[in-house]
Amino acid sequence: MPDPAAPDLEALKKEAALRAVALVRSGMRVGLGTGSTAKYAIEAIGERLASGDLQGVVGVATSDASEALARQVGIPVQPLDPRPLDLAIDGADEIGPQLDLIKGLGGALLREKLTEVQARQLVIIADHTKLVTRLGEKAPLPVEIARFGFLSTIERLRALGLGGRLRQPGAQPYVTDNGNYIFDAQLPASFDAAPLERQIKGTLGVVETGFFLGMADLAFVAAPEGVRELG
Ligand code: 5RP
Repeated sequence: MPDPAAPDLEALKKEAALRAVALVRSGMRVGLGTGSTAKYAIEAIGERLASGDLQGVVGVATSDASEALARQVGIPVQPLDPRPLDLAIDGADEIGPQLDLIKGLGGALLREKLTEVQARQLVIIADHTKLVTRLGEKAPLPVEIARFGFLSTIERLRALGLGGRLRQPGAQPYVTDNGNYIFDAQLPASFDAAPLERQIKGTLGVVETGFFLGMADLAFVAAPEGVRELG
């Protein structure tokens, strides 16, 4: 039976999303994140456009699912091009010290990183369960890998000391929007994120990691006692 005293995480995610969407101004090009929290932000931008409160906002979507939702709620979507984005709004799987993040449990890490690195401001939205004191405390590190030779790539990742497993929710491995697989790596108890990220990225067969280090500018983290603004 659900605990009536347990916080309503969906309501908290929405609260965080609305705080970020309040930063959207008419004419902005906005990176649209992926996942159950980003979904609230996309819907809220759509509502502001529909009410006339916002005009001329264009979205750059970080997944096929977010693109479909954006179009459904009336946000014009453009592909990513080299121009900077005014703002990007996205969720995270873990928010660590200095707003370093783990992302990619939703499978969109490559397009998220490609998009969000071009944002003048990256705003993270989450409920309080995503706050950690060290990355890897609760979530694995998603690593997008090429399908060709994936077992060899996984051996190379294991040789770096990473545990974990290929993401396989059913009979077949999970396939990203880019046609790749994901290895959900268990991080060691103690590590330095920046050198580890360089090592993983330098591993043959790896496309991208879910470490988002030094990228986020601001986070709205919603807890039952209120929304904390970090950064
Ligand atoms: C997708 C992501 C998501 O932002 C992350 O998984 C958080 O999702 P949710 O808001 O559903 O918890 O990185 O690749």
